[in-house]
Amino acid sequence: MEIIKVKDYQEMSNEACSLIVENIKEKPKSVLGLATGSTPEGLYQQLIRKYQQKEVSFQQALTFNLDEYVGITIDDPNSYYYFMNEKLFNHIDIQKSNTYIPNGMVDNLDKECHDYEQLIRHAKYIDIQLLGLGLNGHIGFNEPGTSFSSRTHIVDLDESTRKANARFFDSLNEVPTKAITMGIDTIMESKKIVLLVSGEKKADAVTRLVNGAVSEEFPASILQKHNNVIVIADEAALKKM
Ligand code: F6R
Repeated sequence: MEIIKVKDYQEMSNEACSLIVENIKEKPKSVLGLATGSTPEGLYQQLIRKYQQKEVSFQQALTFNLDEYVGITIDDPNSYYYFMNEKLFNHIDIQKSNTYIPNGMVDNLDKECHDYEQLIRHAKYIDIQLLGLGLNGHIGFNEPGTSFSSRTHIVDLDESTRKANARFFDSLNEVPTKAITMGIDTIMESKKIVLLVSGEKKADAVTRLVNGAVSEEFPASILQKHNNVIVIADEAALKKM
């Protein structure tokens, strides 16, 4: 695991942006695994800037998002579908038909999980998977206790995760209780993983991710077993290391 220490959130975003732009320049048909949440927003702004400056084109790229809430329509501003369009896809030249996000509104969720796996397989797997880090060690929405051999599946969100995400909703009651997420094994199949972490409140989590025991009780610890992981973390997040 390589750890790149940066000064702050902006530098973290710039560093991640360079990695992705480099990858797309080398391989225009790159398959990118994307995340939502607060952590990658600065990176997405940087990618938009690079596109506007004509330094990169996403014409041929493919994307797979990690997760989506169950029971929230795509036109709801809290859906991850809406988030990705707003924060990235609407502002770059990616073909929308090449952007995949699990659909949490279908009747047959098990089939959706299965089909999502097939799509990733057909794309010949993810070149760079971006990850944020949950305070409880979740990656995607794989909460503590999730099997390391899990594939795309439906999860019950932890109370702590619902509370952490309540900031985006009018009240905690409105935060969904279920989500669809790539599994840990699905994430681990990615050729390269880039985990972004910023801020003091993630300091315990990132320390445990890097130095803690590999255990299903702390899902992100599995990344110690992947042979191509880059953690880009700012000084505040690395405070306890
Ligand atoms: C988002 C995701 C989550 C977040 C994590 C950190 O698609 O899969 O694992 O990356 O909850 O969220 P933020 O970045 O808001 O601290």
